[in-house]
Amino acid sequence: MNLSGKVALITGASRGIGRACAIKMAELGADVAVNYSSNRALAEEVVKQILNMGRKAVAIQADVSKQKEAEDMVKRTIEALGSLDILVNNAGVTRDALLIRMKEEEWSRVLDTNLNSVFYTTKAASKYMMKKRQGRIINISSVVGVAGNAGQANYAASKAGIIGFSKSVAKELAQRNVLVNVIAPGFIETDMTDVLNEQQRDAILSAIPLRRYGKPMDVAKAAAFLASDESSYLTGQVIYVDGGMNM
Ligand SMILES: NC(=O)c1ccc[n+]([C@@H]2O[C@H](COP(=O)([O-])OP(=O)(O)OC[C@H]3O[C@@H](n4cnc5c(N)ncnc54)[C@H](OP(=O)(O)O)[C@@H]3O)[C@@H](O)[C@H]2O)c1
Repeated sequence: MNLSGKVALITGASRGIGRACAIKMAELGADVAVNYSSNRALAEEVVKQILNMGRKAVAIQADVSKQKEAEDMVKRTIEALGSLDILVNNAGVTRDALLIRMKEEEWSRVLDTNLNSVFYTTKAASKYMMKKRQGRIINISSVVGVAGNAGQANYAASKAGIIGFSKSVAKELAQRNVLVNVIAPGFIETDMTDVLNEQQRDAILSAIPLRRYGKPMDVAKAAAFLASDESSYLTGQVIYVDGGMNM
């Protein structure tokens, strides 16, 4: 796979899955805009690693749950790196609680960060990509968006929303050669899943046919494929990177 000459913008790329996507795409030749919310030092480290590979990279602070910041981030990427060919909507948060205890703030925070952000960035990026008649949009959902999970009604709603949104936008943008796909990871070892206790982790492991937790790079490899010319006849699809949890 070769991403030489491409520019990728990855939201939430300071840590976890987003960071792995940034590194993987740079390894394949892309220049990368590394978005983060608050962890500037970590984002700068990712940028440094990419610059050391001989690629261009820039850290862009933006809270993607805010429309103006999300739109400016897209503009700043194009200004700094000269194009935008690949958008990975990866930034996400959890605020877990059973429905009867879930506060409106917990619901809104998750929907704003995980789903509204995807609307803001995709709308801004697709205007540019449509003119260029070329683009890849990769949205990170979750197996929870398909199967549901007790204590995660807000998160599941946001991740299910991403799938419906992506399929609709894939139909709208296909004739302009802008391809929109979804990755639904299972359990990936990152800060997000680090909060689970031993009992919860064991229960999840027993539901994974491949009998191992995923690594951020497992997701990044699928994202790189969806960003590359190797997937040029693929749009509106959901790729499960979950060790076989969902089948
Ligand atoms: N880990 C899993 O098992 C798993 C499974 C399925 C799906 N996913 C999805 O995969 C994505 C990445 O998850 P992860 O496990 O890598 O998470 P993570 O380690 O917690 O990292 C989250 C990233 O999102 C950024 N972020 C959070 N809120 C943001 C905002 N408002 N604006 C911009 N950036 C923001 C964080 O930036 P800062 O560092 O600046 O805070 C960080 O870079 C999420 O969408 C998650 O729902 C994860």
